[in-house]
This record gives sequence, structure tokens and C-alpha cells, in this order.
Amino acid sequence: MTDTIRPTVAAGAQPGAVSFPPGFLWGAATASYQIEGAATEDGRRPSIWDTFCRVPDAVAGGDTGDVACDHYHRVDEDVALMAELNLGAYRFSTAWPRVRPDGRSVNQAGVDFYARLVDRLLDRSIRPWLTLYHWDLPQALEDEGGWTNRDTAYRFADYALTLYDAIGDRCPVWTTLNEPFCSAFLGHAGGQHAPGRRDPAAALVAAHHLLLGHGLVVDELRRRGTTADLGITLNLTVADPFDPTDEADVDAARRIDALHNRLFLDATLRGRYPEDLYDDTAHLHWAGRPWRDVVRDGDLAQIHQPLDVLGVNYYHGDAVSGRPQPGAPGFGSGRPGWTTGSPFSGSEHVTFPRRGLPRTHMGWEVQPEGFTRLLRRLGEYAAPPIYVTENGAAYEDRVGPDGGVHDPDRIAYIDGHLRAVHDAISAGVDVRGFFQWSLLDNFEWAYGYGKRFGIVHVDYATQRRTPKSSARFYAEVAATGRLGS
Ligand code: NOJ
Repeated sequence: MTDTIRPTVAAGAQPGAVSFPPGFLWGAATASYQIEGAATEDGRRPSIWDTFCRVPDAVAGGDTGDVACDHYHRVDEDVALMAELNLGAYRFSTAWPRVRPDGRSVNQAGVDFYARLVDRLLDRSIRPWLTLYHWDLPQALEDEGGWTNRDTAYRFADYALTLYDAIGDRCPVWTTLNEPFCSAFLGHAGGQHAPGRRDPAAALVAAHHLLLGHGLVVDELRRRGTTADLGITLNLTVADPFDPTDEADVDAARRIDALHNRLFLDATLRGRYPEDLYDDTAHLHWAGRPWRDVVRDGDLAQIHQPLDVLGVNYYHGDAVSGRPQPGAPGFGSGRPGWTTGSPFSGSEHVTFPRRGLPRTHMGWEVQPEGFTRLLRRLGEYAAPPIYVTENGAAYEDRVGPDGGVHDPDRIAYIDGHLRAVHDAISAGVDVRGFFQWSLLDNFEWAYGYGKRFGIVHVDYATQRRTPKSSARFYAEVAATGRLGS
């Protein structure tokens, strides 16, 4: 970076100093399909997202990840940028369709790419934080049923072991899945994510097989004698009844909590699925039988592996109503197209009314206090040490006449959410690190390139990277472990 980091409170931030515990890990996150590009290079074959991007109207503007941020060719430059921003860790995902392009055979060039990335990070003393699955399933496996096919969980373990054998000695953190809620429900019930199915039973079956894959991978890596930290990243919400005195709203919030939070927390941390979720979805059948019959004896024990870290992604909470609310999105709050595919019977009566809070460019409400409540709640689960593996915001950034990108709204968002994390730590929650989503502007799934989450601006025509004001703000926080002055 060329200009000096300002030591004073940045525009957008609140006054008042807070200090994070010594050793708190400061990082930024990305994901393979969202940044790499090079979609057909060095043996990579299509993922479900390559296919989905070609479905008419599936992705805004017909955007694809073909080129994205061209990170595949710019690893050195991007790692240098991370170092300039004082990052202590970098969370990235590996692309299964590079490593095992047809879901089975190994592609050494794909493995080598990630070995190189990890080496570059270590050269700069940046801790590699690897995610094995950030939504880019090889299309070849989708053609065999994808996550609705139990076999995919076993193929996931094979893929993980290929990488582990190559870089297990130097990658200190391995997380299995990123946001399995989204893979399962946005991908299989709502249809706005790949593979674009709209079948709520398929979503529950996929959720189970994703979790089974998680359990198999953790188990296999432990059998290899790994000393790395192992975990999973969940996107959790705070589901508040819109009207806490209305029983319909209270029950709708319970249902969303079961589906979005407890399905994943109870399975991974307690070895069971919530009984109320089974009751709520008892009408859903798969292959002519109740969906829960896909859960075989021993599966939940397999899923329930001791974990070293729990990754939590938080963007906003939800007000939930059990009644139709004028103008409120239905199931799948704030996301495009998700008006069908609810796993509940009477789905039209789960709505997400707006509360009049400020909103980001995604339309998501800015609700930092919900973050504190969510983190405090994880105390109930005797969760392993928590890392915020994603938090951030999209705003309509523009390069200004001075060549800079000034984003006080994002600075305010980051500042507010870091203070919320600090409040949770002060209340005794064991939160050990924070990853900004995202390092770079990138391919925001069904929204394409129109939503910019980066602390670094990307000009997609030239691939020029410009750190935004928020990057300088965050670099200062990462260097000092402090907010405010
Ligand atoms: C969560 C996902 O993990 C990430 O891929 C996405 O870009 C952000 N949320 C923002 O929507």
C-alpha cells in the first residue's frame, strides 16, 4: 500500500477503544469458484456452478466464474496484498473439480496449485486456513445424483485425502464444509444456487449426506494422525419472532432455528437431529419413503466427531413470522427467487418481515447485536473454540476521482460487528479469530459481479486491485488488535 494507515478513528467507525485478546487471529476469506477463474485450465473440469451459470436467468447478467478475479494466475500478487494488509491468516477453498476433476481420478496439476498457494502463504507467515468444500461439486458427481447420492460423501473423503497427502504437513487448519445450509437448501430446495433443484426432500437428504461427508473426512484425517485443527463452518442465524407475543411467529422462529441452526449444530456437536425438525418435515418423502429413512444406523455417530474449531459465518439475523406479511419475502429471506421450496407444510406462512434496520446492498439488515447473541448462544453447545470465518458487507463501491475507493458504510459495518464479537468475548465466549469476507470483490453466486464484498476493489476489465478505505482500516486493526482510539 502506498499511503500511510491513519491512526485516528476512520470515517464510519465508532469512537471508544476496545482491545482483542493477544493472539487473536485476523484474516480474510475467499472461495475457489468466486475468485480463481481459469475454469478450463490444467485439467480442471466443470463444477455444478459452471453448469448452473449457463442456465438462462440463473445468474444476474449471465455472469460466470470463468475468469472471476483471475486469482489462479495472480497468486503471488494476491498473497503480497494479504501481507501488506497485515493478515495473519487466509481462508481459501480448494476446488474439488481441480483436484479430482471427474470426482474420482486425481489431477496432479490441481493439487500442485494449492501446494504452491500454501507455500506462498507460509513464506509470508500467513496461516493457511483451508476449506474443502465451498460449493463447487464436480459436475460428474452431480450427474450421479450429487449430494442426494450417499456415495458423494465417500468421494468427498477421497478428495480430502488426496489434498491431505500433499499438504497435510503444512496446512494447520482444515475445515470440511462451508455453509452446508446453503449447499443443501439454496441448492436443492430454493433452486437459486447450483444445482438448482427445487425439492425440499432432496435438500434434507443432501444436508444429511453433506454432514456424513464432514464426519468421514474428520475421521479419516484423524486416522492419518493429523495434528492440524479440524472443523466445519456453519452459517447460523438469529431467528427472532417478529411479534414475540404471537404464537404463530414464535413457532415460525422455532422452525427456522431448527432448520438453519440446530440441524447442523445438533448433528455435528451432539450427534442427533432435532426431533422437532423431523416432526416439521415428516410429510417429505424421498424415494417413496419418509426422508429420515436415509439416516442409517451409525450415521450420526459418524457425523459427531470431536472438532478443534467451529467456524461461524454471520451476516444478519432474521425476524420470522408465521403469518403472511405484506411485502415480506417468503422462505429464504432476502435471497432471489426463493419463494418456493419450503420444507414446511403451509410454507406460505413463514415470512421474514423487515424491521426497518439499515440494509446493505444485498438488502440484508445490519444487526450486529444479533451477532453477540448468536455467539453467546453457542455456549449452550459446549462448542469448540470459535472463529468467525466470514462477516462482511456488500456496498455500491466506486473508484473515486482520486483513484481511491472510499467505503465508510463498510467500515461502520466492520467496526460494529467487531465490537459485537468483542462483547461476546467479554461475556466469556471463546472466540479466537475473525475473517473478513472478503479479501477481494468477487463472483457473488446468483448475484454475479454486481455485489462487491471485498475490502479490495477489483476492476474486472483490468484485474487491477485497489485496497478500499476499509482495507486500510482493517489492516490497522489487524496490526494493533485494537479498535478505536
Ligand atoms: C457466504 C458464502 O460463504 C460466500 O461464498 C458468500 O459470498 C458470502 N456469504 C456473501 O454472500
